Amino acid sequence: MPGDLSSELDRRAREILSANDRGGYTVPNGRVYPFQWNWDSAFVALGFATFDKDRAWREIETLFEGQWEDGFVPHIIFWKDDPGYFPGPSVWGTQRTPRTSGITQPPVAASVVRSLWEDEGDPSFRPRLELLFPKLMAWHHWFHTFRDPIGKGVVVAMHPWETGRDNSPEWDAPALAIDTSQVGHYQRQDTGHLDPSMRPTKLEYDRYVALVQFGSRVGWDHARISAENPFRVADVGMTMILLRANRDLLALAEALGSQAEAAEVRGWIALAEAGVGWLWNEEVGAYCSRDVITGRSSGYVTSASFLGFYAGLRTEARDARTLAHLERFGRSTRYLMPSLDPDEGGFDAIRYWRGPVWAVVNYMIGTGLAEAGLTVWADRVRDDTRRLIETAGFYEAFSPVTAQGTGGGDFSWTAAIWLHWLSERSASSG
Ligand code: DGY
Repeated sequence: MPGDLSSELDRRAREILSANDRGGYTVPNGRVYPFQWNWDSAFVALGFATFDKDRAWREIETLFEGQWEDGFVPHIIFWKDDPGYFPGPSVWGTQRTPRTSGITQPPVAASVVRSLWEDEGDPSFRPRLELLFPKLMAWHHWFHTFRDPIGKGVVVAMHPWETGRDNSPEWDAPALAIDTSQVGHYQRQDTGHLDPSMRPTKLEYDRYVALVQFGSRVGWDHARISAENPFRVADVGMTMILLRANRDLLALAEALGSQAEAAEVRGWIALAEAGVGWLWNEEVGAYCSRDVITGRSSGYVTSASFLGFYAGLRTEARDARTLAHLERFGRSTRYLMPSLDPDEGGFDAIRYWRGPVWAVVNYMIGTGLAEAGLTVWADRVRDDTRRLIETAGFYEAFSPVTAQGTGGGDFSWTAAIWLHWLSERSASSG
C-alpha cells in the first residue's frame, strides 16, 4: 500500500474517532447509533490507544459506569436523549441511572484491557487497571451465573442483539418461538437512516421488540430471563469471545497477583474447554450455534465458526475441517470473511449479518489464525480487510463480493481497527 494512502487513512480514522467522541464515550455512528454501545466501545479503545492512551482507558471506564450491581454490563448506555434511535430508554424500561438497555453484548472488554495494559507497558496506568479488574471479574461472573443456564461454559444469548450479529440466520429457527402478536405499533428509525435492503426485516424487528417487551415485563430479572426467555440460543460467537476474554482476564489476574480470582477464572476456562464441544456440529464440520430450548444445532457456518482459534482451541480434526470451510469461503468470495457461508441459499452480500464482512470480526479471526501459526490465512484475512477499507472507506461493514460499503459510514470501530491492526504504523509496531 502506498505510504501516502496509509497515512491519509490514519488521519481520517483519527478524525472519525474524534468526531464520534461525545466526551468520555464514543458513538458507533452519530446518526444511526447515537449512544454508547458495549463491544463497539471496547474496540474503539484500541483505536484511541494509538494516539491518546488516557482516552482509551476512559472509554472502558465510562462503559463500566453503566454496570449494574449484579455485574451485568448493558449493551447500550443512553447517556443523552436522541430521538433518532429505536428502541430508546423508555421502551427498555430498565429504570436505571444512567439509563441502559437490559441485555448485554459480546464480552471483548477484558481482552481490550489486557491489550491496553500490555502494549503500553506504562505502570502509571496500574491504578486504573486495579479499579477496572474487579468490574471485569463481576461481569464475567454475571455471564457464568445468568448466561450459562446449562452449566457447560457456553454463552446462551437471550436476544439476537446480545450476540452482536443481529440477523444471522442462526436465530431464524429459534426465533419461531417468539410470540409477536402483542408487539403493537412502533416506528423503526434505522430504515430511515439506511438502505432497508441492508437491514433486518420487519419480522425480525417484531421479534427483537417482543423480546425487549418480555424482559421489561419481568422487570429485567436476569434469573427469570435465563429460565423463561422465549429465545435461548447458545451462541458460538459469544462463547468463543468469552473463552478468549477469560484467558485475557487470567493474565490480568496474574499480573495483579490476584490468586483467588485467577483460580476462579481458570475454572471458567476449563468448563468452557470441556463444554464447547456441545456446539461442534460433526455433520457440518464446524462450530454452529445451538438452540437450548429444542437442542437443535443451527447447522450454519458463519464468521463466528472461525473464532475457535481466537478462543485458543486447538483440535487437529476440528481445525482441519474448519480450514476446509475457510478455503471454500476464500474461493467463493473475493474478500474474507463473509458473515455467512457464501454457498448458503440465504447468503446476501449486503444485508447486515447475512453476508457482509465486519472489520472487528476479521480482527478477531485474523488474530486467532496468526496465534495458531496459520500465517497465510491470517495475512489473507488482514489484507482483505485492509483492501475493503482502502476501497470503500470506514463503513460499518462491506460486501465480500464487490467491496461496497454497507450500513453506516464513518464508523467508529472500523476506524479503530484500522488504527490498531491495519495501518502501516500498526504493522510496523506490531
Ligand atoms: C441495532 O439497533 O441495530 C443494534 O444492532 C442493536 O444493538
